[in-house]
Amino acid sequence: MKQTNTTNRRLVLAERPEGAPTESTLTLNNEDVPSPQAGEMLLRTEFLSLDPYMRGRMSDAPSYAPPVNIGEVMVGGTVAQVDISKLDGFKTGDWVLSANGWQDYALSNGDGVTSLGRDPEHPSWALGVTGMPGFTAWAGLTKIGKPIAGETLVVAAATGPVGATVGQIGKILGCKVIGIAGGDEKCDYAVKTLGLDLCLDHRSSDFSEALVDATPEGIDVYFESVGGKVFDAVLPRLNTGARVPVCGLVSQYNATSLPEGPDRMGDLMG
Ligand SMILES: NC(=O)c1ccc[n+]([C@@H]2O[C@H](COP(=O)([O-])OP(=O)(O)OC[C@H]3O[C@@H](n4cnc5c(N)ncnc54)[C@H](OP(=O)(O)O)[C@@H]3O)[C@@H](O)[C@H]2O)c1
Repeated sequence: MKQTNTTNRRLVLAERPEGAPTESTLTLNNEDVPSPQAGEMLLRTEFLSLDPYMRGRMSDAPSYAPPVNIGEVMVGGTVAQVDISKLDGFKTGDWVLSANGWQDYALSNGDGVTSLGRDPEHPSWALGVTGMPGFTAWAGLTKIGKPIAGETLVVAAATGPVGATVGQIGKILGCKVIGIAGGDEKCDYAVKTLGLDLCLDHRSSDFSEALVDATPEGIDVYFESVGGKVFDAVLPRLNTGARVPVCGLVSQYNATSLPEGPDRMGDLMG
């Protein structure tokens, strides 16, 4: 079913998943499109960002952010257009960055909404390179990774919005940048479109050996987003004084117990 101007499709959290989410984790609720009161506007979702952090919001484990309650619409950053405005400062047709969540329409009093103007050239970029993932990449790489021209930077999840931004900033700063991604198509994109020096497929059977070959001078900055076997391969290649901005550990977001394997603290202290 396509978006209509009468029905608000809402994906709400039906149950908390144990491990990976299943078909029963979310339920589709169809409701009437709400009407704005004075001091409100009705936002129509044009783009919804699907981000790794959302898995964490499905759980009620302690976190830096509260979980989504059962029966509530899933959270999510959105680029939306103002459909009806009864709020000063916003007109019908304006584009905004908002947090409508996984639904077609949302009411807003303007809190937390950023105007994108009447006719933004690339409205969806506000959810990517010029939005939260882009800022995360810039801050993590330049403030924590502190790359220096000529150093070797390895970036995991290299074709997602965070990794793609990290890799491109690394090239601008004069680093040798090696991306890690899943599959040939993503690796081609990392090299041919993003301009990275090399990209390695973490699913290939010789991934660890390929990383050794690709980093003859070791690794100076590793931008971590995944953990697991990718980190196992990277760890022995880190140079003394290497920086590892830990942005995420997506390989563990569905985990129900601690990962198997040795305690790596000793290696990390070395
Ligand atoms: N701290 C913050 O403020 C903040 C903000 C935004 C994002 N993050 C974190 O940054 C990371 C990237 O975010 P993003 O939005 O750009 O995500 P993303 O790259 O679009 O998606 C995550 C990617 O991780 C890779 N992946 C998944 N499971 C994996 C596994 N087991 N082993 C290796 N790779 C795996 C997949 O790429 P491949 O198909 O290429 O393997 C997947 O597409 C995430 O860890 C996220 O939680 C943190």
